[in-house]
Amino acid sequence: MGRYIMALDQGTTSSRCILFDKKGNIISKSSKEYEQIYPKEGWVEHNPMEIWSSQLGVAIEAMAMVNVPADDIEAIGITNQRETTIIWDKKTGKPVYNAIVWQCRRTADSVEKIMHDDNMADTIKKKTGLIPDAYFSATKIAWILDNVDGAREKAENGELAFGTVDTWLIWNLTKGKVHATDYTNAARTMLFNIHTLEWDKELLEYFNIPENMLPQVKPSSCIYGETDKSVFGSSIIIAGAAGDQQSALFGQCCFNPGEVKNTYGTGCFLLMNTGNNPIYSDNGLLTTLAAGSTKDKPEYALEGSVFVAGAVVQWLRDELRMIKDAASTKEYAMKVENTAGVYIVPAFSGLGAPYWNPYARGTVVGLTRGTKKEHFIRAALESIAYQADDVIRAMEKSADIKLSGLKVDGGASANEFLMQFQSDITGESVIRPSCIETTALGAAYLAGLATGYWKDKDEIKKNWRLGAEYDAHMSPDERRKLLKNWKHAVNSALFWAEA
Ligand code: G3P
Repeated sequence: MGRYIMALDQGTTSSRCILFDKKGNIISKSSKEYEQIYPKEGWVEHNPMEIWSSQLGVAIEAMAMVNVPADDIEAIGITNQRETTIIWDKKTGKPVYNAIVWQCRRTADSVEKIMHDDNMADTIKKKTGLIPDAYFSATKIAWILDNVDGAREKAENGELAFGTVDTWLIWNLTKGKVHATDYTNAARTMLFNIHTLEWDKELLEYFNIPENMLPQVKPSSCIYGETDKSVFGSSIIIAGAAGDQQSALFGQCCFNPGEVKNTYGTGCFLLMNTGNNPIYSDNGLLTTLAAGSTKDKPEYALEGSVFVAGAVVQWLRDELRMIKDAASTKEYAMKVENTAGVYIVPAFSGLGAPYWNPYARGTVVGLTRGTKKEHFIRAALESIAYQADDVIRAMEKSADIKLSGLKVDGGASANEFLMQFQSDITGESVIRPSCIETTALGAAYLAGLATGYWKDKDEIKKNWRLGAEYDAHMSPDERRKLLKNWKHAVNSALFWAEA
């Protein structure tokens, strides 16, 4: 048995690799940011070759940092940005187009068409659990087939493969031997039936997507194959794959119905485990598959997807050049007592849950001559917490529960100002585990459970340790006032959509 599990965490803005030991401790970690491509307003792409090379690079680096050879690695678990769509030639392994990223809005018009087709939105929701949106893979696949020269013909001849990022990595790690994905990633394509756990023929026909280009779909925790010897020197078993948000739910040990986590990454995604019961929401939440699903026993989650969280901080750093690094936002925010009435709604790629409007755009309201950089930075951080609060309220209504404590993780959960404000604005305790790399940890657990490195979920649960807890101090009156203003600000962002 190898001493460590390798987690490959391919996120929207960076590729990361973490080696974990049996106690869930981080042995080594390497990460690399890579290029975001914005060819047109509202379009977002990645270079699939850079996704692969950066992911391979950090994996090799993480092993080298602690001198761990491939033979010492029990298994690999993969977790990834979901929905992002890659199509490549099965023979050459070359992508026919850049990866169309989940944030990309280029297919918003095709989604509008769905909304006008008789009952189609309803059929999609019943079968896939999703609210039709450009966010998901289906319209992105169709866009590539319709816009890349010769792509549709090749696809119909069985020459092209489609995959989300997990599938692309598995294909490259096995040098084209395995074309597979897992239930949680398939559930985000808008083509997968979350009840029968099969690709849905009616939807494939509706979106005009040939079935032969789709990967085989497997449980998140199972043997997918092994890496080609040329990749790491010796082969390593690939034993886990899951979309990053479902992976984080697993990594937080939210194994029981009613347990909730919120991950602050590029976006911010709140998921509740609902057990073997798919709960449908009338409040803008998605029904999706959880990583514990097996062929006979699907396990579901209710999800609130916020498209921009950490990305607003990156925007302050890279586009506005207001800060040098993300960590400094905490000091800036704490230098002022409040935002002096400034609200930022970072609807850079439309608004996701609970509003679902692809045309909404980022909005800043409440500027005065006295607005300082500190107010602006604080408003950006607060916007993350307000968006999470919107989703929490929708979840309480949909699942008819009252939340008691919010488990958090992801990069921005290290920001103490943000966590305290999150607690204040929701009136809930915010609970952060000692390991906030929960997304990667979840993938490691899924892989280690498949090979017997961990015996069962009970053994894993013992690894969860409290890092910090934040309790709410804001008065209910203050909270009400701030939330009312936030709603006004959101309405301005939505109004822009209609203008
Ligand atoms: O659905 C998109 C999500 O999977 C992206 O996650 O961590 O890159 O914000 P992240």
